[in-house]
Amino acid sequence: MSSYEDYGRVSRSYDRTRHPVGLPLVREGLMRCGTPPDSLNLVDAGCGTGAYTEALSGKIPNIIALDFSTGMLDAARTKCRDRPTRFLRASIQAIPLEDGAADGILNNLVLHHLPNDDGFAAQRQAFSEFARILRPGGALVIGVCTREQLRDGFWFTRLIPNAIDGCCEVTAPLARQVAMREDAGFSVEKHAVPWDDILQGDAYFDRLGPLDPAWRDGDSVWSLAPPEELEAAITRVRTMEEAGSLAAWVGEHEAQRLKTGQITSSLLGRRNMRTTGRYRHTEPVVAWAERRRVPSTDSLGGISGGPALNANGEIVDVTVASSKRRGRVFTTAPISMDQLLSQANVKPAGRPSAGLNTGPANRNFIDYGSALRRQLTVAQVICRVEGGGRKRGRRL
Ligand SMILES: C[S@@+](CC[C@H](N)C(=O)[O-])C[C@H]1O[C@@H](n2cnc3c(N)ncnc32)[C@H](O)[C@@H]1O
Repeated sequence: MSSYEDYGRVSRSYDRTRHPVGLPLVREGLMRCGTPPDSLNLVDAGCGTGAYTEALSGKIPNIIALDFSTGMLDAARTKCRDRPTRFLRASIQAIPLEDGAADGILNNLVLHHLPNDDGFAAQRQAFSEFARILRPGGALVIGVCTREQLRDGFWFTRLIPNAIDGCCEVTAPLARQVAMREDAGFSVEKHAVPWDDILQGDAYFDRLGPLDPAWRDGDSVWSLAPPEELEAAITRVRTMEEAGSLAAWVGEHEAQRLKTGQITSSLLGRRNMRTTGRYRHTEPVVAWAERRRVPSTDSLGGISGGPALNANGEIVDVTVASSKRRGRVFTTAPISMDQLLSQANVKPAGRPSAGLNTGPANRNFIDYGSALRRQLTVAQVICRVEGGGRKRGRRL
C-alpha cells in the first residue's frame, strides 16, 4: 500500500497521463536472464494499471501482475482481459510466491511508496522478497526517479518544493539503494536513463495541467503538497498564464529535464553461490573486488568461514569463497547472516567486536585467531549445516 497516495481513487484517471517509459530497456534487461520470452515467468511487482504488463504480454505470456491496490489491479485486469496474465493482490514486502518462482521481476516506480522509517527497512524487506522469489541467474529491472530527477526532471516540480522534499525523503539516494540491493544478494549490472521518453507522454507538455486534478493524479508527488502549497501553485500557474509568461517559464525549467532525465532504470542479477557435494546449498553472496592484500600472501586458502569485518571492526559477513583469477572474495549476503543469527536466537550487541584489529597489520591470521579464542573474544561459533539428524545446525 502506498504510504501517501490514494491509488483507489487515482486508478480512475492514472492512464490519462501515464505511459510505460523505457520499455526497450526493460525488455533488454529481462532478456539477459536467458529464458526465451514465451517461457519466461515474469512478476510485474507493483503493476499499477498494468501498462507494462500489457505492453510486455504480447511476447511474454506468463506474467503475474501484482499490486496492493484493488483499484489499480482492476484497471490492469480490464486492460489485459484478452491476455493470460494472472493477477495477485499482495504487498511486495510479503510476496505469496514460492522461492525461485520468477525468471524476471519488474519493479517500476513503486519503492518510493513504501514507508522510509527505520532506515528504509521496508525497502530492504522488498529486496529480500525479490531475492527469494527470483531464481538464480534471473533478472530484476527496477525503475526509480532519483532525487536529482525528482528535482530537475519535471518542469512543474518548481511549483511544489515541499512536496518534492517529501518525495526525496521517501527516496533513498541511489548509492544507498545500490547498497541495499547488494545486501540482498543482487549485483547491479547497469543503470540507464531512457532520455527520449517522458513519463506523462504528451500530457506532460500541457502547461495548464496543474489546474486539473486528474492531470495531477498522474504523478503522486502532487499528493505530498500541503494544501496551501497546492493552492499557491495553482494561483501561480493562473497568474503566469494571464501575464503571458507561463510558456516561457515552463520552457526554462523544462530544459533541466534534458540534463537529468526523469527515471533511472537498473538491471540487477541475482548473485548466488552454489556449493556441490555433501553440503549442497545455494545462497546469495556479495562479491568484493580485491584492492590490497595484507599480509601479501599468495594463497587465500583457509579464509572461508572467517569473519568479514567492516571499518569499525564489526563482523558483517562470513567469508565463503575466493576467486584468485578474478580477484574476488565472496561473503554471505547480510540477509543470510541475519537469518542465521535469528535461527540460532542470537541477538548481536551491535557494537564493534572487542579486540579485533582491522588495521593493515602484517600478522599471522592463524595465531591471531587462536589468541582471540583464548581470550574469549570469539566466544561463540554458530554453524549452519543443511540436512537432518547429526548434521543439523548447532552451536558449538
Ligand atoms: C506509481 S505506480 C507505478 C505502477 C506501474 N509500475 C507503472 O510504472 O506504471 C505505484 C504502484 O505501486 C503500488 N504499490 C505501492 N506500494 C505497494 C506495495 N507495498 N506492494 C505492492 N504494490 C504497491 C501502488 O498501488 C501503485 O499501483
